[in-house]
Amino acid sequence: MSQTSTVTVGLGARSYDIHVGTGLLAQAGALIAPLLARPRTVIVTDETVAALHVPALQASLDRAGIASDTITLPPGEGSKSFAQLAALCDGLLAHGVERKDVVIALGGGVIGDLTGFAASILKRGCRFVQIPTTLLAQVDSSVGGKTGINTAAGKNLIGSFHQPILVLADTGVLATLPPRQLRAGYAEVVKYGLINDTDFFSWCEANGAAVLAGDSAALRYAVAYSCKAKADIVAADERETQDVRALLNLGHTFGHAYEAEAGYSEALLHGEAVAIGMADAFRYSAHIGLCPAADAARVIAHLNAVGLPTRNPLPATAEVLAQHMVHDKKAEAGQLTFILTRGIGRSFVQKGVRLDDVARYLHQEAA
Ligand SMILES: NC(=O)c1ccc[n+]([C@@H]2O[C@H](COP(=O)([O-])OP(=O)(O)OC[C@H]3O[C@@H](n4cnc5c(N)ncnc54)[C@H](O)[C@@H]3O)[C@@H](O)[C@H]2O)c1
Ligand SMILES: [Zn+2]
Repeated sequence: MSQTSTVTVGLGARSYDIHVGTGLLAQAGALIAPLLARPRTVIVTDETVAALHVPALQASLDRAGIASDTITLPPGEGSKSFAQLAALCDGLLAHGVERKDVVIALGGGVIGDLTGFAASILKRGCRFVQIPTTLLAQVDSSVGGKTGINTAAGKNLIGSFHQPILVLADTGVLATLPPRQLRAGYAEVVKYGLINDTDFFSWCEANGAAVLAGDSAALRYAVAYSCKAKADIVAADERETQDVRALLNLGHTFGHAYEAEAGYSEALLHGEAVAIGMADAFRYSAHIGLCPAADAARVIAHLNAVGLPTRNPLPATAEVLAQHMVHDKKAEAGQLTFILTRGIGRSFVQKGVRLDDVARYLHQEAA
């Protein structure tokens, strides 16, 4: 009998459970049935995930007496667009979705973000369930209620806060995920240890290889721990109005610069950019005397040991990267908010970091 861990995201009336374990796709019908006002739902997914995992989900819904339609979108970041949002909303309306209904998002962060946003505006808001199928979506994007799409001006600039009513993180579905995608998601797992839990970082050092080899107990622990870590931060600061939720951006200001430079393409996955960005956050913190150099070396050693990059792979100059940071939504008047660190598990929000200081550091790195 496979085991399931459950994490509750405590947000008062918007609280919900995240179940983590293998075999949850097969149990989805039974778990979702009690939440429905009537026994029907719509599954939203992408073409890749549809071929691999929709049959099992549909069979599970069938067994629970739930009728389902499926809307399948093209895979990839390009689907987080106004055009696909419109197509999805039209599709949901064509399938007769009402405000009392529940929509299921089956896929990675792209499907979760887009479907969550559509659910938040359809008939002024209907409920949705997340069934995340990438490690990144299981440990990050399916938790916390941020939904949205991209525009020409940047990523995630249009969106809403809309919490799911249930998350089913079936670690068994990760078996079909390309290893590179699994590794990229693992960067966000490591992030939680680096933010505020040295013991969890030590656990990652000991168990990261098992996680990436698909060991089900290691995966369940890593996903459930990460969901709990994110849930605690989100519960303290749901709408990022204080500095707490910003801690989740560790490695992301540097990382976004590399992603932007790579044109948000397959050349550099988000998690890979975050790995480099976390290495930068530690190296920069050591460089300005905040963090022991040994901690930065330990972080970099672990990321490299699991095959994640820790150095800028792009030919971009320091000036170009710094300009990407200015365009990042967190920049204000030449000063940036960075997540810096006093060591592993001791990260904090630092406002007013001067862009020219960061550019100087990037210069040194490039030399
Ligand atoms: N809402 C949030 O808080 C939040 C947090 C982090 C990231 N995000 C967003 O998440 C998105 C990235 O998510 P992602 O990395 O999951 O990307 P993704 O959804 O594009 O999935 C990556 C690729 O894996 C494929 N795939 C998904 N599950 C699979 C499976 N089980 N087997 C085989 N292939 C599978 C997909 O078809 C896709 O090609 C970005 O748009 C990012 O902005 C949101
Ligand atoms: Zn991230």
